Amino acid sequence: MKPKVLVVRKVFPQVLERLGEYFELEVNDTEHPWTAEELAARLPGKVGVYLMPTNRIDAAALEAGTELRVVANMSVGFNNIDVPACTARGVLCTNTPDVLTETTADFGFALMLAAARRLSESERFLREGRWGNWSFDVMMGREVHRSTLGILGMGRIGQAIARRAAHGFDMQVLYHNRSRLPAETEAALKARYVSKEELLRESDHLMLVVPYSAETHHTIGATELALMKRSATLTNIARGGVVDDAALAEALRERRIAAAGLDVFEGEPHVHPALLDLPNAVLTPHIASATMRTRIAMAQLAADNLIAGLGFGPRAGQPLSPLNPEVLQRA
Ligand code: DGY
Repeated sequence: MKPKVLVVRKVFPQVLERLGEYFELEVNDTEHPWTAEELAARLPGKVGVYLMPTNRIDAAALEAGTELRVVANMSVGFNNIDVPACTARGVLCTNTPDVLTETTADFGFALMLAAARRLSESERFLREGRWGNWSFDVMMGREVHRSTLGILGMGRIGQAIARRAAHGFDMQVLYHNRSRLPAETEAALKARYVSKEELLRESDHLMLVVPYSAETHHTIGATELALMKRSATLTNIARGGVVDDAALAEALRERRIAAAGLDVFEGEPHVHPALLDLPNAVLTPHIASATMRTRIAMAQLAADNLIAGLGFGPRAGQPLSPLNPEVLQRA
């Protein structure tokens, strides 16, 4: 009998087929994520979970999934997993880094450009038949090239954005991060480390790429927004909750900052209603990594991690991207 694995949302058929070679699968093939209770009800007897950002594995879920050994997240962000609780119970957790870095950086750049150059607003203006004639002052936006980009969170994606900014758009790049990059990496990226306050004050465009955690909850709120230039834009491709969306909506409404590009929201798919009415907010449904090639790569990496983590396949016992490798050493 094959070991039993839970797949919390639909995924590419070829990935299910690969998982099916090793495991008996229970798949949520509806359009709706399971609630915490629905997930818990399905966890008994499962040794693995193929997880997506719509579901959480926390202490309560682990109470139900007493046989659980591996949680493989199809996402680089892993704020939907209580990793310490998993580690305490010897449950291996994995995520999908690297494969989405460049695609996500492309999208962050697109969103920043869209916010700065009023892309959504201009398109609505045209489609609604409000375009009278060409005029010198129609839909004037903010410069991106040769302006100052501030990056909060300088991991892989932050660095990929810095490369685009410095080498493609001749921007001055400032960054703030928990830890400073080595001098040679800073030099290659042409990026300068500054305090968070300097980042907020000096950036023409602020890009958020910081992981979500209790420490980064509302890391941008009313106080931080008040430090930014009135002409600045803010782009969030990190996670909902990093920004206080109510405070941001207020700052955008009062034009205390110029514009925002937001791919992630507090409590998504719910979006703060005040954001929906704002012309100077470009809003997208958490799609920064959504290209066919990248989503397939993420899905396959999550599957490979699950298979290897449960001791099968060519990398048995050696998943590519463990979040708590100490669990492997204990096994
Ligand atoms: C990620 O991988 O973290 C993306 O945001 C998709 O959830």
